[in-house]
Amino acid sequence: MRKKICAGNWKMYKSPTETRDFLRAWGDFKNSVSCQTVIFAPAYNLSVLSEVAATANMQFGSQNVYPAKEGAFTGELSPFVVQSLGAQWALIGHSERRTLFAETDELIAKKVLSALEFQLKPMICVGETLAERQSGQTEQVVERQVTRALSLVKDLNSCPFVIAYEPVWAIGTGQVATPAQAAEVHAHIRSLLASQYGDVVSNETPILYGGSVKPENASELAKQNNIDGFLVGGASLKPADFAMIARSLT
Ligand code: PGA
Repeated sequence: MRKKICAGNWKMYKSPTETRDFLRAWGDFKNSVSCQTVIFAPAYNLSVLSEVAATANMQFGSQNVYPAKEGAFTGELSPFVVQSLGAQWALIGHSERRTLFAETDELIAKKVLSALEFQLKPMICVGETLAERQSGQTEQVVERQVTRALSLVKDLNSCPFVIAYEPVWAIGTGQVATPAQAAEVHAHIRSLLASQYGDVVSNETPILYGGSVKPENASELAKQNNIDGFLVGGASLKPADFAMIARSLT
C-alpha cells in the first residue's frame, strides 16, 4: 500500500521567521491529517525546519541540490549538507528549474543519483507544456522526462523516489488539470514504471499531482486511482489550506 503524500513547494516564499510561524500554526492541524506531509522550503529555512519540523510531524526537503558533496559551485546546494540538516527529501526537475534555469534531463539525472547517494528521496517533477499537450505529445514528453531522470540509477528496487506529475500549463495559473486528464497521465506513468523497471517499482512508487491544487479541487483529484498525493505550490503557504488539501488524501 503506497502511503499518501501531501507536499508543499514554497518556492521563494517565507523567511525563517515565517517558517517558524507556519510550523507553530501547523500544530493545530497536524492531528487532523493522516497522510505524510512534506515541505520544500527555500535553502535558508532548512536549519529552522531541522529544529522544528519533527514536533510538527512534518518532513522537509530542499527545492534543488547540486550533484556533488562539495566544491567550487557558487550558489549551489550540497545534498550532503541538506541531508545532514535532517532533510529527507530533494525536489528535482521542477518546471521552474527546467525553464528559468535551463536544467536539462541530463543534469536532472545526475541530481537524482546524487540525492539518492546522500540518502535524500528525490521527488522528480515531470510535465508537458500547453503547446506539447495541444500537439498530442504529453505521453512522449513525460516518458522522456521520467526515463532520463532515472537513467543513472542502477537498481531502482532499493531506491525510494516519487514522481510528481505537474502539467506546466497548470502551475500557478489556477487552471487545474481535470481529474480525468490527471488520471490518464498518472496511469500512463504507472504502466511506464512497470514496463521499464518492473512491478515492484511501479507498485511502490507514489505518483503525485501538482498544478493549481486548492482546497476546492483536491477531493475530486484525490479520488482518482493512481493519484497518491499532491505537490502544492501557492495553497501550501497557508496552514489551513494545506491541511484541508492533506485531509482529502485519507
Ligand atoms: P501551484 O504550484 O500549486 O501554485 O500551481 C505547484 C508547483 O509549482 O509545484
